[in-house]
Amino acid sequence: MAEWLKAPVLKTGKGQPFVSSNLTASANDAISRATATQEGSERYLAIIQSGMAINTASPMANMSFASTPEPIFRACDLTKVYGVGEVAVHALRGIDLALYPGEFVVILGPSGCGKSTLLNILGGLDVPSGGQVWYHGQELSKADDAALTRFRREHVGFVFQFYNLIPSLTARENVAIVTEIARDPMPPEEALALVGLGERLDHFPAQMSGGEQQRVAIARAIAKRPVVLLCDEPTGALDSATGVRVLQALEQVNATLGTTTVIITHNADIARMAHRVLTLGDGRVVGEAHNAERIRAEALRW
Ligand SMILES: Nc1ncnc2c1ncn2[C@@H]1O[C@H](COP(=O)(O)OP(=O)(O)O)[C@@H](O)[C@H]1O
Ligand SMILES: [Mg+2]
Repeated sequence: MAEWLKAPVLKTGKGQPFVSSNLTASANDAISRATATQEGSERYLAIIQSGMAINTASPMANMSFASTPEPIFRACDLTKVYGVGEVAVHALRGIDLALYPGEFVVILGPSGCGKSTLLNILGGLDVPSGGQVWYHGQELSKADDAALTRFRREHVGFVFQFYNLIPSLTARENVAIVTEIARDPMPPEEALALVGLGERLDHFPAQMSGGEQQRVAIARAIAKRPVVLLCDEPTGALDSATGVRVLQALEQVNATLGTTTVIITHNADIARMAHRVLTLGDGRVVGEAHNAERIRAEALRW
């Protein structure tokens, strides 16, 4: 088995409390309390299952992409069909792409064009119907469920439109759920400081704004030092000013940690902060642009 797949698997299941002997008693207690108050959704489990990390990211935020490095991800003629026969939906119709270390990529496209489907396949949450997707030298499109779970847990941070925070845990505890099972995590306090929430450590989600909650979710995603951060409409539920704060946090993470960052959005303004913009239309990549000059997140308005 490949080296990157060898991490131990934490067993979780639908409706089962996520409790591990690797966690401290206080963390287990906190998680038990939390799962008693919030039904585990598929997405929530996926986030939690992506809890452990190895640090293979290096700060490359300011690198030039002129001399093309090895891609982290490569997709080749990726297709995804939901359903069969007359009700079949062709969500992806042959996607070719590469993502490079340290890049900040925005994937743009209208609702329903396949953005989430693509992101879910890159992050190992879903599998393609056809084509191949590679993470470094490993073919994700051939990996089984256990391997995909390990891949997510060790290498991928997810941020979704809705923050999926556990209401009965403070900001610090929401991040600690991940850091207590990661191999080389940063302290929750450091992750929260990185997203500008160093002063909100002991606040509960209900005591924070939507933008602050989303930044806690970003802190949770990056605390394990993932190689790649995949963000699905991270500002979709936020107003412009609050969304900008969230984008600043993502910008900061990318610049400080060198985490390859992918944001999918239907908001064209956000594309201006990216190194590279891929445009999707009806399941295909219909455009690619490099921003000669990136706009800082704080200058964005929509
Ligand atoms: N689980 C699913 N079952 C059936 N159809 C789906 C499923 N997920 C997405 N789709 C369909 O696939 C297409 C692409 O969806 P999606 O990737 O969510 O687009 P986007 O994120 O760009 O809005 C849409 O037509 C959507 O209705
Ligand atoms: Mg979507």
